[in-house]
Amino acid sequence: MVKVEVVDHPLAQHKLTLLRKEETSPWEFRRILEEVTYILFTKATEELSLTKVQIKTPLESTESYLLKNKIIVVPILRAGLGMLNPILALIPDIRVEFVGVKRDETSLKPEEYYAQLPRIDPDTVNIVIDPMLATGGSMVHTIHCLSAQGARNFIVITLITTPEAIDNLKKEEEDIRLFTASVDRELNHRGFIMPGLGDAGDRLFGTF
Ligand code: PRP
Repeated sequence: MVKVEVVDHPLAQHKLTLLRKEETSPWEFRRILEEVTYILFTKATEELSLTKVQIKTPLESTESYLLKNKIIVVPILRAGLGMLNPILALIPDIRVEFVGVKRDETSLKPEEYYAQLPRIDPDTVNIVIDPMLATGGSMVHTIHCLSAQGARNFIVITLITTPEAIDNLKKEEEDIRLFTASVDRELNHRGFIMPGLGDAGDRLFGTF
């Protein structure tokens, strides 16, 4: 079950446009992807549960709030790494686990090359990050890996996605909330997102 939210904050849309432009260089792409991730992550975490705690300020005791659930963030290698720093800046003590998936260019199927996941408590909030969902295969594979370890609660943060990826995520039984800056028009016959922004991993790391 997936619930999709398009983050239409003007700053997110402005930065998405800069990321789409072909003349945007890798160093600009890295910086702008981090900037837009702050906005997407803030929106995606709006409904996290809080727990009431008693604290002492320098002036008096008071009730206040802290995040209730354990959170794991999972960047899908490589491109998900481009969204990690802003999340670590906002929640420095978050746990980070990695899944490495490379999409086969011909079959478009995900091929896993790294996954060393711990057992995951069902109350943990699992935040999976990848700038692009095309067929959705890499994301579905990652959710299966996490789910096999006990994960039940998923937040997916992505910059652009497609109607095909959303349809594929809809087939999953898990509770998935998907936050994206855009649902692009379509996948072309080669499996590229249209209009898209090219390959986020290549644009981040200069591997054209
Ligand atoms: C891209 C992208 C996603 C995946 C999307 O990664 O970052 O992980 O493809 O495609 P899908 O939804 O059809 O699975 P890629 O496989 O190019 O690897 P990279 O991050 O190393 O560039």
